[in-house]
Amino acid sequence: MKALTWHGKGDIRCESVPDPKIEDGRDAIIKVTACAICGSDLHIFDGVIPRMQSGDVLGHETMGEVVEVGRDNKKLKLGDRVVVPFTISCGECFFCKRGFFSACERSNPDKKVAEELWGHSPAGLFGYSHILGGYAGGQAEYLRVPYADAGPIKISDGLSDEQVLFLSDIFPTGYMAAEFCDIQKGDTIAIWGCGPVGQFAIRSAFLLGAERVIAIDTVPERLALAKQAGAETIDFMQEDVYDRLQELTHGRGADACIDAVGTEAATTASADSVLDRVKVATFMGTDRPHVLRQAIQCCRNFGTVSIVGVYGGYLDKVPMGSAINRGLTFRMAQTPVQRYLPKLLERIEKGEIDPSFVVTHRAGLEEGPSLYKTFRDKQDGCIKVVLKP
Ligand SMILES: NC(=O)c1ccc[n+]([C@@H]2O[C@H](COP(=O)([O-])OP(=O)(O)OC[C@H]3O[C@@H](n4cnc5c(N)ncnc54)[C@H](O)[C@@H]3O)[C@@H](O)[C@H]2O)c1
Ligand SMILES: [Zn+2]
Ligand SMILES: [Zn+2]
Repeated sequence: MKALTWHGKGDIRCESVPDPKIEDGRDAIIKVTACAICGSDLHIFDGVIPRMQSGDVLGHETMGEVVEVGRDNKKLKLGDRVVVPFTISCGECFFCKRGFFSACERSNPDKKVAEELWGHSPAGLFGYSHILGGYAGGQAEYLRVPYADAGPIKISDGLSDEQVLFLSDIFPTGYMAAEFCDIQKGDTIAIWGCGPVGQFAIRSAFLLGAERVIAIDTVPERLALAKQAGAETIDFMQEDVYDRLQELTHGRGADACIDAVGTEAATTASADSVLDRVKVATFMGTDRPHVLRQAIQCCRNFGTVSIVGVYGGYLDKVPMGSAINRGLTFRMAQTPVQRYLPKLLERIEKGEIDPSFVVTHRAGLEEGPSLYKTFRDKQDGCIKVVLKP
């Protein structure tokens, strides 16, 4: 089959790889009808994620049609249309039973490596390195789905692929980011990053009752899309974010702040961003937490900082003094996607949100490598890429 594979920093290829096979009775194989490129894939593209191997198949936002089912899988049938969560979860272990699917105890065969890095291992993920299971991803013609009787959600024929594909990751992620904020009547939520995840966080914050959303980015078409959803916007290259937020919140700060940027914040945004870049380049640091620092400083006393932008290691100069003295709450996670699927599918079915609003580029797999670049460099108005193998 054809698939997008990783061959080093900036080197992604569309090439032939062996077809996936059923390896366990609970597996299923799906024929991919649509898959997407995520901001998290850009960390791999940019060489920020360790323990990738040449030839690894990428992709973790995938849906398709079931074409093969393992003998113990009683849930799926040939021809079922399913969306596959990016988190691989058994559905039965200590964490899965509690709804913490992204911490499944059984799905990461690279557990030992993850434990050395983070103390404990999270779940395995599709297409996301040999720290998180080394699973082949779904930017491909076919995908093997482990624990396919627990993870995927069936979709009825009335909805298009583009309306449901983002249930695999960015819609639940944006929604979780907003849910973490425990939004009360009258609340103002500030959101850093108007990429795909930020866009879903903005809309979810309104769905959950926020009075005002203040969205921060510098890319004009992304700020425009945020405005369309009803957000006020701040361009971090034009204005001082802290000063402007103080002004907009009458000197109190935002009730909650969402970091939907993560470790690859723009290098030129401020002096500390430049310093972060230098430290990472010279192996003196692991991450670039400029946005997290700013989100903490901009959050009102006893407010919440909700982190969904991904970080990898040990973050320097995070103002914990500000956080403890002012009673901030921190919430963060790789999204336990399965936990959100039924209620978010219902919101789509009811027409409360149509997730296809975010798609700007559609193409075949062959164009995948060049679209990784277009998406990363925010060229050609690109906000979200959907590939149809
Ligand atoms: N927690 C999870 O489960 C989960 C799931 C999906 C994605 N993510 C992460 O969410 C983040 C965003 O993903 P995306 O797909 O939207 O990616 P993206 O790269 O398209 O979006 C990031 C946006 O942040 C903006 N930005 C950069 N520096 C900024 C700054 N200083 N202030 C404000 N905005 C700034 C960029 O201009 C860009 O629009 C990534 O880190 C990704 O890995 C996490
Ligand atoms: Zn993702
Ligand atoms: Zn589990």
